[in-house]
Amino acid sequence: MRLLVCGGAGFIGSTFARQRLREHGDEVTVLDKLTYAGREESLQDLVGDPGFRFIRGAIEDPDAVAGAIDAARPDAIVNFAAETHVDRSIAEPDAFVATHALGTYVLLEAARAHRGTSRSGGRAGEHGLRYVQVSTDEVYGSIEQGTFTEESPLAPSSPYSATKAGADLLVQSYFHTYRLPALICRGSNNYGPYQYPEKLIPLMILNALHGDSLPVYGDGMQVRNWIHSTDFAAAIGHVLEHGREGEVYNAGGPDEEANMTVVRRIVELTGASDSQIEHVTDRPGHDRRYSLSSEKVRALGWSPRVRFSEGLEQTVAWYRDNRWWWEPIRSGEYRAYYERQYGRALS
Ligand SMILES: NC(=O)c1ccc[n+]([C@@H]2O[C@H](COP(=O)([O-])OP(=O)(O)OC[C@H]3O[C@@H](n4cnc5c(N)ncnc54)[C@H](O)[C@@H]3O)[C@@H](O)[C@H]2O)c1
Repeated sequence: MRLLVCGGAGFIGSTFARQRLREHGDEVTVLDKLTYAGREESLQDLVGDPGFRFIRGAIEDPDAVAGAIDAARPDAIVNFAAETHVDRSIAEPDAFVATHALGTYVLLEAARAHRGTSRSGGRAGEHGLRYVQVSTDEVYGSIEQGTFTEESPLAPSSPYSATKAGADLLVQSYFHTYRLPALICRGSNNYGPYQYPEKLIPLMILNALHGDSLPVYGDGMQVRNWIHSTDFAAAIGHVLEHGREGEVYNAGGPDEEANMTVVRRIVELTGASDSQIEHVTDRPGHDRRYSLSSEKVRALGWSPRVRFSEGLEQTVAWYRDNRWWWEPIRSGEYRAYYERQYGRALS
């Protein structure tokens, strides 16, 4: 298959691009704006592969999108492009609205205009170019007990999740109104290599390795349903190939853990000290628990392979061994962001 992967220089998008190129023999064109979170370094092992192409551009820019479609002549567009950090959406929501609302709209219009032009007609669908929107469990809001299914109402609570939910609704409207062969895959909290260190797990690993404090929001008893990025990438690929057009598929990880448990385990794995753990003022409107039922995508033949305990150990080892990847981040703009967010400097 020929794929246009939007947001493919980010954490999960780069994992997906690598997986599709190496394990499925797809041709992959990445279109990415390279925001602070987008990094060509995350794709550097793919550069030079004849099946890989990188184009810098924004999904809200119709000319950039048209140019990428002309170059890629894709059978499918998979959209990872997003602003993804809830804390940044609270401080500065504008980019979230631009990328999720306008950007998704521009991509859907381009998919509609090119629906009949894919070369192979789209292996997965009889209508030509398929569109897969990558989304999040956060669109369902918080759940104290039980687990969300695809039928659960959308109840997002941050500007991040609200704009992601809006994008999902727009995608569904293009299926219902224009019969665009569109699907949505919603993942739970991801972790793994190449994740920007503002997110809980890489933040704690790098701070632990540097002897910095480990800032835990509130009581740290927020529960997340952790999925390894390779498992989520595989679920998205599975939905792309086997999903039914117009449908939503949830992909949750095999394990739920409270943030405090995760942080304590990182302290053990890095040889840091419990005394580095520091409770800080909780995030406004912080969701307490997320949990996803993955029965629907499991029925298509996908299941997660990586248990959290082993995946976390591998992730700690990856950050320990790949200083080249995170050193430029930790010595750049991220330092100022961290100081604004946590009121203290990194070492
Ligand atoms: N990280 C998670 O835990 C998680 C869980 C479930 C779903 N998701 C979803 O998966 C997708 C990818 O998340 P991630 O964690 O890899 O994010 P990320 O922040 O690591 O990467 C996002 C990528 O999108 C690019 N981008 C941002 N705005 C763009 C624009 N306007 N045009 C083109 N490119 C743009 C960035 O440069 C970056 O490369 C997102 O849609 C996110 O909502 C993430």
